[in-house]
Amino acid sequence: METTLSEKLYETAVQLAPAGVHSPVRAFKAVGGSPLFFKKGVGAQLTDVDGNIYVDFCMCWGALALGHASPDVIGPMERQLQNGTHFGTPTEKDVELAQLILSALTPFDQIRFVNSGTEAVMTAIRLARGYTGRNKIVKIDGCYHGHMDPLLVSAGSGLMTQGISSSKGVTAGAIQDTLVVKYDSKESMLEAFNKHGNDIAAVIIEPILANSGLFEPSNDYMQFLRKITEDHGTLLIYDEVITGFRIGWGGAKAKFNIVPDIGTYGKIIGGGLPVGAVCAMKKIMDALAPVGGVYQAGTLSGNPLCMTAGAATLTALQKSKFYEKIENDLGPYLDKKIQNIKTNAPLYYKRVGSIFWLCPGQKGAPKDPDSISKEASEIFKSIYRKILAAGIYLSPSVYEVSFLSAAHNRKDIDKLAEALAKALNEI
Ligand SMILES: Cc1ncc(COP(=O)(O)O)c(C=O)c1O
Repeated sequence: METTLSEKLYETAVQLAPAGVHSPVRAFKAVGGSPLFFKKGVGAQLTDVDGNIYVDFCMCWGALALGHASPDVIGPMERQLQNGTHFGTPTEKDVELAQLILSALTPFDQIRFVNSGTEAVMTAIRLARGYTGRNKIVKIDGCYHGHMDPLLVSAGSGLMTQGISSSKGVTAGAIQDTLVVKYDSKESMLEAFNKHGNDIAAVIIEPILANSGLFEPSNDYMQFLRKITEDHGTLLIYDEVITGFRIGWGGAKAKFNIVPDIGTYGKIIGGGLPVGAVCAMKKIMDALAPVGGVYQAGTLSGNPLCMTAGAATLTALQKSKFYEKIENDLGPYLDKKIQNIKTNAPLYYKRVGSIFWLCPGQKGAPKDPDSISKEASEIFKSIYRKILAAGIYLSPSVYEVSFLSAAHNRKDIDKLAEALAKALNEI
């Protein structure tokens, strides 16, 4: 595989930006070597600057549900472009996307658009604190909620711990109100509520954990979480930045049939452009400025180009019966192909809707992110370039999940299974 132009671009980029990238995991640190630079995406395919073509299973970290450059999205965006990119005013496009999103998220009846998943979480946390008049936030270890200071924490050794900063530059003050509990552990959550129950503003959870592998908590745990938060007047926040409109039209909220107090969204709802959103019932949303006293604003929020891409994406997902196709066709086909791989190397595989996780080196299901085998990163690193050379682009870290889109077909899956089998058998 010829990658001369990527390497040349990297040499320049690395002078201009830390590790030559604008978001850390793009730097290929987890798989070694320098990152590839891409110039084009069409359907399920990505083309790098050297002209190599890959079937893309990263799909912009899950943001692209229809694949690249979908005509269903490009057409409406081109028409919007002729009228301008942003006016800094309300437009009919934000009304249209709000209606579409809220139609999927009943009983939520209000939304505030922002520009990223991080911003959505930041707003949700401030809203929860402002609404409840409380300070503490409970975070579940292993869940990722973007890069706002109070949530850049990891757990200590106890069941429930005061978060330990996982990034330099985050002050002790910024995380003093963050409590970290173990994933899927009632005991750990009970300890947090026993100690701090009346000062916990919110519990935030990735209802399907998809940022350190892929984990599904039990329905029983999710019911417990709803009850304990309700009993203590604490808000429950589902961070559905990945799962929203991906594991089904109603996301994890519908899957568990539980209504949280606040939901945060991003990725798919922007159709590949930067959009985030906070959704809740009006009673809670009324606490946001200018109706209420919780301040939040954004120059570029709700811009009509992004709103158009989001609305076109959601409309096309519904029309094309995307979720049915994943559940009845592509999903089971992928399961079968991966599960039938004959290899001596262990391979753990899990899928929830159009999200899947390949974890070579893992024997059996890990119970939480901490239990992911230490060998997994090494094995993934050793096979990543081989899979790439076979024309498959996976997210470049074993802890990252991969995605199916409406643009993938069975042949793409065959190609993935073949490349994976070959690479594993060459270890
Ligand atoms: C669950 C979750 N929350 C929040 C974020 C942050 O979103 P963004 O990268 O758009 O800021 C992510 C990003 O991957 C995410 O997966």
